[in-house]
Amino acid sequence: MSVQVSPEELEEYRDFAVEVATKAGEMIKKAFYKTKTVTNKGSGVDPVTETDKAVEKWVIGFIKERYPEHRFIGEETTDLDAPFDFRDDLTWIVDPIDGTNNFVHNVPEVAFSMGLTANKKVIVGVVNLPVLDLMYTSMKGHGSYCNGRKLVTGSVEELKKSIVIYDTSVLRTPWNVDTVLKNVRNIITKTHGLRTYGTAAVHCCKMAEGHAQAFVEYGLYCWDFVAGLLIAQEAGVHVMDPDGGPCDLMGHRILMGCTAKVANELSAMITHHKMHRP
Ligand code: IPD
Repeated sequence: MSVQVSPEELEEYRDFAVEVATKAGEMIKKAFYKTKTVTNKGSGVDPVTETDKAVEKWVIGFIKERYPEHRFIGEETTDLDAPFDFRDDLTWIVDPIDGTNNFVHNVPEVAFSMGLTANKKVIVGVVNLPVLDLMYTSMKGHGSYCNGRKLVTGSVEELKKSIVIYDTSVLRTPWNVDTVLKNVRNIITKTHGLRTYGTAAVHCCKMAEGHAQAFVEYGLYCWDFVAGLLIAQEAGVHVMDPDGGPCDLMGHRILMGCTAKVANELSAMITHHKMHRP
């Protein structure tokens, strides 16, 4: 049975997500200026810190207390080797620190990201960059905001006049590395330039801000981009799967353009990565 969310409930959930993101942000900011304890996940280039784990643990407890009937998917507590049990029910999808590599290396683009889905679609998205004091918020059908300022994406009509965000990701197989190099060459010779900030959540917010006009990334999990996807979409960004068609939250990849034309031009220009996620 499909889940119904009233306008009042939608607002309540957005306020709750902002409350969680504010508290989580305080934890992250405090830890940012201290020595970090780092371990590595599978690939060796995918670090995790005690702060990732502590924030997620706190968030799970807080959600359970307020909304015991809601479901939860989080980066540090989900089995990455099995397909996720993603249902129509109200589901909070959380990345305690998106940009953990940045966090480890004291780069200030670190984000707490939290999205709420109903019927497998994002209805609330909040991304907090606590070190930079930037709070991005969005509700389905109600626009997106940064620190209360309404966001509208850029209006460039051609990819060749665009700044493109492309993250090389943690996929380091020889084929993928060659593909990255080929794509970087195309982007730097055929567009206005390449940017990369080390966090997919921030990449989506950059699109919403109009700081970049196209974005593509592979090898992601839903928690990296679920909130950012809505923030971008609500600012007028065209969001799709890199191969065309709608973006799949469980598809590990995303492509955006400030217009559909720019998005389609990027999709046609890049070599598409082979995925190595379950
Ligand atoms: C990472 C970031 C990065 C992406 C990696 C993700 P994490 O998330 O989103 O942009 O390229 O694939 O793992 O691990 O810092 O939460």
